[in-house]
Amino acid sequence: MSSATANGYPADLLALVEDYLEGLDFGVDHRAVRLVEAMRYSLLAGGKRIRPVLTLATARGRGADPVSVLPTAAALELIHTYSLIHDDLPAIDDDTLRRGRPTCHVAFGEDVAILAGDGLFAEAFNLVLRRQPGGCAAVTAALAEIAAATGVQGMVGGQYMDVAGEADADDDLRVLHALKTGRLIQAAVVCGALLSGAEDVEPYRAFAAELGLLFQIVDDILDETGAEDELGKSVGKDRALDKVTYVSRFGMEEAMRLSDESEARARELLGRLPGDTADLAAVTGFIHDRRR
Ligand code: IPE
Ligand code: IPE
Ligand code: MG
Ligand code: MG
Ligand code: MG
Repeated sequence: MSSATANGYPADLLALVEDYLEGLDFGVDHRAVRLVEAMRYSLLAGGKRIRPVLTLATARGRGADPVSVLPTAAALELIHTYSLIHDDLPAIDDDTLRRGRPTCHVAFGEDVAILAGDGLFAEAFNLVLRRQPGGCAAVTAALAEIAAATGVQGMVGGQYMDVAGEADADDDLRVLHALKTGRLIQAAVVCGALLSGAEDVEPYRAFAAELGLLFQIVDDILDETGAEDELGKSVGKDRALDKVTYVSRFGMEEAMRLSDESEARARELLGRLPGDTADLAAVTGFIHDRRR
């Protein structure tokens, strides 16, 4: 079923996502050429595409054609890219390197970068509403999932906790990670399930919540141990900005142990899903072992 690369990542799904994103037409008006340039500059800079690949992998595991969920999968990547552009702004993490290139605000200016993020967010909803095939109930449920995952109870709420440094208790830190990163990863899996006809998405939600936590623990570790040229973004920023992370809170050795524990839990929850879970298992392994 899956066509995996050497590291286990489903290469055919990745190729579907890349082609689809490349072909997106934001309806360029000559007065907004630079805005669309900025959006495409960040979107097409070669991210790992974990969220859309998860949507496709979930749908395929349930026997659906992955192409049928591409609009929603792509919408999640647009939203993720918007979150990265805003995360990198001087007022937030003040980063100059992303996906191996100067950040959007360095290349286009802060004003255009803010609008490029806003544009990607709005175009994501446009994509799902206009291009996602399927019954009204399933598409509406997917939209509700995406909206909730990006709002106060999702990515933006988590980003707020991050900038406010509001994570005194260990449980707060887990919530911060679950919101800022976990929730969108969860939406990617849940949308794949909803759009391929799943009636009970709770097992998918449980698996993906753990996967999202694992993803951010590894992100915290890589901020210390990663190589800038592999990661395509600056390292050592969390320490420099005094961020609360799994490494600052628990130390490197314990953070690594917690990531192993989280991967084991994710695999156990994955075992409770119906259908073929080979692609999702491959992505889980990739998220734990990744160097970028
Ligand atoms: C980075 O996400 C931001 C976090 C949510 C931790 P990714 O590591 O998925 O970034 P790209 O998409 O591959 O660039
Ligand atoms: C950002 O987390 C999560 C988002 C919602 C974008 P980080 O600030 O740790 O992401 P990186 O390390 O800059 O990619
Ligand atoms: Mg940040
Ligand atoms: Mg950052
Ligand atoms: Mg980080």
